[in-house]
Amino acid sequence: MCGIVGYVGPRDCSDVLVSALTKLEYRGYDSAGIAVFENGKIEVAKSKGRLTDLVAKMEREGKPVGHAGIGHTRWATHGEPSDINSHPHSGRRVTIVHNGIIENYKDIKKFLIENDRTEFLSDTDTEVVAQLLDFYYDGNPVRCIRKVLHEIRGSFALGIVFADRPETVYAVRCESPLIVGQGHGEAFIASDVPAIIKYTKNYFLLEYGEIAVLKNGLASFCDLHGRMVEKELKTADFDEDSAEKGGYPHFMLKEIHEQPTAVKTTITPRIEGGLPNLTECGITPEALREFNNIFIVACGTAMHAGMVGKYVIEKLARVSVTVDIASEFRYRDPLIQKNDLVIIISQSGETADSKAVLNLVKGTGAKTLAIVNVKGSSIAREADMVIYTHAGPEIAVASTKAYMVQLSVIYLLAFEMAYAKGTIDEEECQKLTLELVRVPEVIQQTIDRIENVCRYVSTKLITADSLLYIGRGLDYALSMEGSLKLKEISYIHSESYAAGELKHGTISLITEGMPVIAVATQNSLFEKTLSNIKEVKARGAMAIVICDLKSEIDLDSANYIIRIPKISEMLMPMVATVPMQLLAYYTSVNKGNDVDKPRNLAKSVTVE
Ligand code: F6R
Repeated sequence: MCGIVGYVGPRDCSDVLVSALTKLEYRGYDSAGIAVFENGKIEVAKSKGRLTDLVAKMEREGKPVGHAGIGHTRWATHGEPSDINSHPHSGRRVTIVHNGIIENYKDIKKFLIENDRTEFLSDTDTEVVAQLLDFYYDGNPVRCIRKVLHEIRGSFALGIVFADRPETVYAVRCESPLIVGQGHGEAFIASDVPAIIKYTKNYFLLEYGEIAVLKNGLASFCDLHGRMVEKELKTADFDEDSAEKGGYPHFMLKEIHEQPTAVKTTITPRIEGGLPNLTECGITPEALREFNNIFIVACGTAMHAGMVGKYVIEKLARVSVTVDIASEFRYRDPLIQKNDLVIIISQSGETADSKAVLNLVKGTGAKTLAIVNVKGSSIAREADMVIYTHAGPEIAVASTKAYMVQLSVIYLLAFEMAYAKGTIDEEECQKLTLELVRVPEVIQQTIDRIENVCRYVSTKLITADSLLYIGRGLDYALSMEGSLKLKEISYIHSESYAAGELKHGTISLITEGMPVIAVATQNSLFEKTLSNIKEVKARGAMAIVICDLKSEIDLDSANYIIRIPKISEMLMPMVATVPMQLLAYYTSVNKGNDVDKPRNLAKSVTVE
């Protein structure tokens, strides 16, 4: 969603803002803008389109030159993408950038109009906040921000400059993430650490309701009541290189190739004596024994990781697992009981619907466990227990390595829970854990073996209007992710279907040449899936099969076969994910799409 940046320091502010916004492009946006103090006056430049459009406009019309300012990439919510609706927005003496949604903006607008404030130019909720700040501004910026915070509702973060406070940037956070970077004689604000990593690795995490003041290259903080706050300076555990493409044409391809390392880094510290050990994450065998039911709640790809979790946890630990989409779960009045465990999976740790689930669980007596990639994110901080995945920053909008490490953590949890509950013995648990330890190496072999095959097969997909992904059992859970990956970046309509369900309606969609990608890695279900593959091929489908090296299938039954290394059936999802990712990636590349920034999508969905 929208990205916020701000800068105070000796560098050319416009350049810093544009460079930092470039690093937030992955969040998704449709317009961009900056506001910079030039000779004591706020100068604004903004434009619909990409950052390159903004830069071109500034080259034509002149770029604001100064040393303090704010910047923004906008993902339209209130009002279409346009120059006028782009941020920054201004009142008479106040200019702001905003991430999130102001829920009561209509009431505020009515109040302002009733008080003779009628100069609204845009359709945005943001401009209403700029006008409200201006309405209350009495020469004391922090007091004014605090007053406005009491009147606006929603989830948001703001970067603010006041015309009579040159060279100073103010920021406030309510729900939407915001960090404050501290360099030598310079300070920054940003929606995410990668935006400023080029300048500094040191940052403060702004908490709910905290206000930051950036002045003379230093950041200071106060709370909602105006009291000064001392904050802990954190250091990012990655550097500029990890936030760059490192020679790959796209972040997505780089992140696919980073998977072996990401899985290794995630699982290694959680294995002791050949057995999973999650005590460092607050998870003990005693606690795992107590849970009656498990809910896994998440959105999109993270929810698909949960689908694999359902199969694996139920099979091994014999505990009932319900997987739900967070935006459904939060409104369906779910039956959560005292001894239940609610697992929230989220790469960003900031997804609005997933975050809302934590509030829902409070007071039920159930425990919450977050599986999160971004350190210090809201979901990680609010859950009772947290298992961090160590994928490093994921920049491509289409999630790959984050999904893979989510799977790896789910396996560890399932093994530990099954062992704790006595449904598997120590020997079996050690065997499964050892197999998981081998997975990074097998993922690497898979990438090496099939990247070119997938590149070739993807050329057969580019003219398709629609396709199906099918599978049974774990392969079905996996095909949901394969289908999402493909549709989000190739823009080809795609559905995932339980292979056995095709005959109950969907098979009527099959026409000559329609691609059907069958995931068939589960040996125990292979014969059954093979029958379904033959059924669709007999009706003209172009059958593409993902199976292991030993599966008995030939080119009479399928048009293309992508063979992957074999490990135990239960762990095959971590290997079979790779061809699905590569098929999506190369189809998107072959169609000339913007692979890392697919249209209409945002990396972190911080609004409902
Ligand atoms: C798709 C994708 C999304 C996210 C979803 C949840 O490739 O990345 O479907 O998985 O928006 O995001 P997080 O995991 O940040 O909660």
